[in-house]
Order: sequence, then structure tokens, then C-alpha cells
Amino acid sequence: MTSATAVAGTNIALVKYWGKRDQTLNLPAAGSLSLTLDRLGTRTRVAFDGGDGSADRIALDGAPAGQKFVSRASAFLDRVRGRAAISACATVETFNSVPTAAGLASSASGFAALAVAAAQAAGLDLSPVELSELARLGSGSAARSIFGGFVEMAPGSRADGHDAVAHALDSGAGWEVRLVVAITAAGEKAIGSTAAMARTAATSPYYGAWVRSVEDDLSAARTAIAARDLNGLGTVAERSALRMHASAMAADPPILYWNPATLAAMATVRALRERGVSAFFTIDAGPHVKVLCAAAEADAVAAALNGTAGVLRTLIAAPGPGARVVEAA
Ligand code: PMV
Repeated sequence: MTSATAVAGTNIALVKYWGKRDQTLNLPAAGSLSLTLDRLGTRTRVAFDGGDGSADRIALDGAPAGQKFVSRASAFLDRVRGRAAISACATVETFNSVPTAAGLASSASGFAALAVAAAQAAGLDLSPVELSELARLGSGSAARSIFGGFVEMAPGSRADGHDAVAHALDSGAGWEVRLVVAITAAGEKAIGSTAAMARTAATSPYYGAWVRSVEDDLSAARTAIAARDLNGLGTVAERSALRMHASAMAADPPILYWNPATLAAMATVRALRERGVSAFFTIDAGPHVKVLCAAAEADAVAAALNGTAGVLRTLIAAPGPGARVVEAA
């Protein structure tokens, strides 16, 4: 049995995914659009070598992974084993260059890397679209990290989910943009995205309006990307993030991911814009703030965010390639 190592960059949605039309298959209620990043990501090695003899042996950042992580990864490997008609347990070694489960999209790069490495190690010959569908079963946003640059995820309409896959929208070639990530808290997020989406869909009076708003944002984002219009794209990204969070905040009990530093970083971004810097924030299921800007202004944006009360540190990421196998034996 072979082993394979894959790497995947995380992706940050500029038009957010928030809500599922099917929980089991992670079928999204609406489309989404993201940018895959270069330096924030996951490297994963998979070998179907029998694991520890009776179960999968799964390590995260050099130590045995926690129970929640192991059961999610093993359930995902079961799908790969089912498709490849193999029964061997696996050894998985995975390294994140982003803090796990902190709202820095480690599940996106994590399941993209796991899908690519596990499929290769199991001898499955899957196309990028098939890998996107497979990655989606681990985490909805992971379907997008199979591709590089600007990526769009289709909600699809089929019950089997074969059409709920991502595709590469635009490589971003010739457009020097960056995402500056402002980390505003240590540790894991309070509520995972799956549970939060389910609660929003079940209880938020704004959920229907949120889902109906996504199509217009997708179309505005596509137009802005084609025109290399940073202000246009940034405006959509802020609007989409705020609408997503508004729908979650209106859930019962409410879901509020922000902390005081999140709000302070948003104010910093607005102040930068008043000074003529094209910078726009987005926020995922956590308190961190990600700021889209031109490459030439990324250092100034990072400096402003570093000087913001409560911001612990910043990272600057560029657009990156899709998930890929880097070693196979
Ligand atoms: O992939 P999930 O199920 O962790 O959901 C990700 C949800 C957001 O990051 C908040 C938005 C998005 O589109 O990535």
C-alpha cells in the first residue's frame, strides 16, 4: 500500500458560505467565492498501513490528535476506504501552519490536503472536481481549497451533491492583492461552524434574507474580479461578512464570534480607507479579522493592525495554488 503527502492552502471566503441544504453531505444552501492563500495551510501524509493495528493513528502537529479531530478524520477516511474498496486503517500525520479551529480556516486546508493525500494513497484517480466533492464531505469550505486563486463554489441542486463543487474562477494573475490576517485571540472558537450554521438556519429570522442575498453578491464579486476592481470586490466582501454575522447574531441563542479587538480592527480598516488606503475586512467563524488590500499597501495595513488594541499579531498571505500531491511512495 502506498503513502502520499499533499499540501493545501487555506482559503478565505469573500462571499461567505453560511448554511447547508443538507447536513450529512455538507451541501451548501447558497454559493460562495473565495481566495486560496499561499502560506497558510496544511501538509498531510496518509498511509493505509494498518494504523495502530485496530484504528487510524492520527497525529496533529506532531502529537496524537484529540478525540474530536480523530473521529472527524476517521469518518472522512471511511468514505475514501469505501470508494477504494480497502479496509486498512491509516496513519495520518498532519501539520497546520494556522492555529487549528480558531476561525483561521484550518478545516478548509485540512480536509483539502486530507482528501488529496488519502485519495492518492488509496489509489483513487480523481479529477480536481471529484476531489472538490470529496473534500466537501469533510468541510464545506475545503471544496474550494482544491483550486488556487479566486474560486467559486456552486450550491448545486442535486440531492447526491455531485454538482455542489468548486471551480477555479480566476487565477488572479497580474493582480497583486494580499490578505492581512489580524489574530485577535488565542485558542479554539466557542462554537463550530456546523453547529452555528444549523442554529442560524433553525432560529434566525434573518437566515432566509441572508441566503437570498448571496446570489447578488456573487455576481458583483465576479464582475469586480474580472475588472481587477479592488474597491468593488472589497465592498462586496465586507457586506457579505457583515450579513453572515448579522444572521448568526440574530440566532437564538445568539452566535457572536467577535471580541473587542475584532471591532477595533474593523475601525482601523475604516480609518485606513479614510486615508485613501484600499483595505476591506472579512471575518469568519471566529474573532480574527482578514483584510484584503493591494500588495504594495500590505505592510502599512499590517502595521496599522499591529498597532490596534487587542491585535496579537498579523500575517500577510498572498494568493496561492490549489491542493496538490507533493510526495508519493
Ligand atoms: O467549512 P466550514 O463548515 O467550516 O464553514 C466555513 C464557514 C466560513 O468560514 C465562516 C465561511 C466560508 O465561506 O468559509
